[in-house]
Amino acid sequence: MSSASSSSSSTRAYDVLVIGGGIIGLVTAWRAAQRGLRTAVVDPEPGGGAARVAAGMLAAVTELHYGEETLLGLNLASARRYPEFVAELEAASGLDTGYRTCGTLAVALDSDDRAHLRELHAFQEKCGLASEWLGGRDCRRLEPMLAPGVRGGLRVDGDHQIDPRRMAAALLAACERAGVALHRMWAERLSVRGGRAVGVVAADGTALAADQLVLAGGSMSGRLAGVPDEVLPPVRPVKGQVLRLTVPRRYAPFLSRTVRAVVRGGHVYLVPRENGELVVGATSEELGWDTTVTAGGVYELLRDAHELVPGITELPLTETRAGLRPGSPDNAPLLGPTPLPGLHLATGHFRNGVLLTPVTGDAMAALLTTGELPEVARPFTPSRFAGAGVGAGAGDAREEQHA
Ligand code: GLY
Repeated sequence: MSSASSSSSSTRAYDVLVIGGGIIGLVTAWRAAQRGLRTAVVDPEPGGGAARVAAGMLAAVTELHYGEETLLGLNLASARRYPEFVAELEAASGLDTGYRTCGTLAVALDSDDRAHLRELHAFQEKCGLASEWLGGRDCRRLEPMLAPGVRGGLRVDGDHQIDPRRMAAALLAACERAGVALHRMWAERLSVRGGRAVGVVAADGTALAADQLVLAGGSMSGRLAGVPDEVLPPVRPVKGQVLRLTVPRRYAPFLSRTVRAVVRGGHVYLVPRENGELVVGATSEELGWDTTVTAGGVYELLRDAHELVPGITELPLTETRAGLRPGSPDNAPLLGPTPLPGLHLATGHFRNGVLLTPVTGDAMAALLTTGELPEVARPFTPSRFAGAGVGAGAGDAREEQHA
């Protein structure tokens, strides 16, 4: 294991330094180290981040949105990699990830929701996705805890789930076993020399140097000091409040698959884990860096979940939490090089960070080893926002001289 927590001011040099130890940073580091690159991660709490809050739905089909057909391609590519990815990660870490191939049922409670789901179904079929329309009775046959008023729904057997906390722990262990150095500190400033990113300086003055850097700071990716303005990723925080309940053994199986719905325009989903945890999410709020759990947020989630599955009010409420999704202008991630040589991005995964973890790791490792992104990731380079921030050119990159 190569855990490092030195507070010395000496420079440590790596082939690759990943800034941010959430699931995207860790998968990038793990895959890079597997390919023989001397790799480090800098993060005060690796394995934390949005994965501490996320429900872990792998919902390429049920979270399809108009105008996001290109993102669908990446989402499906990542979903296809999941079984092999999980097997490899569990073997490499010795840890269980809570991956569950249970499928999803998206239901409608009134005629508006039903019309919305019918449209989604038509769009899914147009995109060649596997999804089956069921009447209300068939929905309740599959999930007897559903409210009697359910009007119909979509059965999507290919949208699964994983436990993001367990996955983060497994990625951390896999990184350690693969020799990734973990610097448990804040990266305060990017070091730029001769028009090239060369490292970071941590809050305690520690300097870390690397040939290539990957900025994978989730919603905080746009805040690293020293990154030239035209290179800063256009990523913003989108708050999500999430509840965790526990299904007592006597009620099991409460739900056998993920159940979701649009209720009064808001999305609600219930994700049942094999260990009895039931995750209910999520609000979507543009409130900057606020991570307060509010009475209103909890009320709305419980109200909507109760309309869907009335028996939920019997369950112990064990946790409430809010996290920040890294939103991007087109809801798709930013993967690949920036105009500042030496600095790459792996951020902006918004609602799909967990789903996109396998394909992101593979794409970033290919980039770091060959200089080229694989075909599947090319539509997601930061240069698509050229002129609107990222990708406008790094000619005037500020020069920082750190030891
Ligand atoms: N993908 C679920 C969410 O972002 O709430």
